[in-house]
Parts: sequence; structure tokens; C-alpha cells
Amino acid sequence: MHRLRTTSTTPDQTREFGVALGRAAQAGDILLLDGPFGSGKTVLVQGLALGLDVTEYVSSPSFIMINEHYGRLRLVHVDLYRVEQRLDPETLAQLEEELGGDAIGAVEWPGLLPAELRARSTELRLTPVDETTRTIDIATPSNHLAAAARDAGAHDGPGDTHG
Ligand SMILES: Nc1ncnc2c1ncn2[C@@H]1O[C@H](COP(=O)(O)OP(=O)(O)O)[C@@H](O)[C@H]1O
Ligand SMILES: [Mg+2]
Repeated sequence: MHRLRTTSTTPDQTREFGVALGRAAQAGDILLLDGPFGSGKTVLVQGLALGLDVTEYVSSPSFIMINEHYGRLRLVHVDLYRVEQRLDPETLAQLEEELGGDAIGAVEWPGLLPAELRARSTELRLTPVDETTRTIDIATPSNHLAAAARDAGAHDGPGDTHG
């Protein structure tokens, strides 16, 4: 597992970090976006979409849970905020089917996903430091996304195992 960290001091910087990941993303990659309201999860996914050559505007899918965008690869943007306690088995089966495969998955509020799915995903945890500063902690089993994050300025984070 690669553990990296970067700091963003503007929305544009967070978006650009997403662009770098989007350019490097390969079919089947799943990105989990963790962090409180307003931490920049959707901003980062907007960058991810740009990096995947999605040309339409990416809004928050909060009210419909899954949005699809077509770029270099299909981007499946999921927001589980409205899912209260647990994912019912049908929804979970649908998500398992939609994420990965030939698409890139990006999931906001991923806390209810099963551990097995989380373990093969790239986790991006955004922590607000002040009004405009965000620490972005990356944990990924993916060499190409770790390399892209490094190229975009991320450095070793706490607990990196160089694995
Ligand atoms: N460094 C930063 N990175 C991302 N967003 C930032 C940053 N600084 C300020 N912001 C603001 O924080 C808000 C993040 O919104 P959004 O991406 O919708 O959050 P979330 O999806 O995590 O709820 C936006 O209004 C954005 O302009
Ligand atoms: Mg959001």
C-alpha cells in the first residue's frame, strides 16, 4: 500500500490534483473520497473528470446517487451521503456492478462500502486545515495512481510501506 500526502491551498489546486489522477487512471480504478462537507470531494472529482476528458459539467450527485460521464473512460460518480445506516443488498450489488469493470469509480461518503471493496480502492481523505487549505491523504494499492500523485506533488505520508 502506498501512503502519500499532499496539501492544497486553493480549489484549483485540488482540481488539478484530480486532473493528474484522471490522466493516469486505468479501467477498473475505484477512488473513494472521504472527508467532511465542503472539504472538496466534488471539486476533486471534477478534476478527475477533466483528466478523463469528460467535457460536460460534473455536479454533485447527492440527490440521484449515481452520475455517469463519458470521457476517455466512463466515469461513475457515486455519492452515498443519503444512504443512512447500511447499504441494502440490491444497492450494494448494483454498486459492485457499476464500479470497476471498464469504468473509473469515484465514491463520495464511502464509509458504508464493504471492507473488501475499500481494500482494492484508492482512498483520498480530505481534511480541512483552514478556510482554503486541505490535507489530502492518499492510500492506494495502485502503482500508477501513486506515481501520478507523486508527479502531482504528493510525498510519503504517515505509515508508507513502499509496497
Ligand atoms: N483547497 C481547496 N480544495 C477544495 N475545495 C476548496 C478548497 N478551498 C476552498 N474550497 C471550497 O470548498 C468547497 C468544497 O466543496 P465540495 O467539493 O462540494 O465539497 P464536498 O464534496 O467534500 O462536500 C468549495 O466551495 C470550494 O470552493
Ligand atoms: Mg460532494
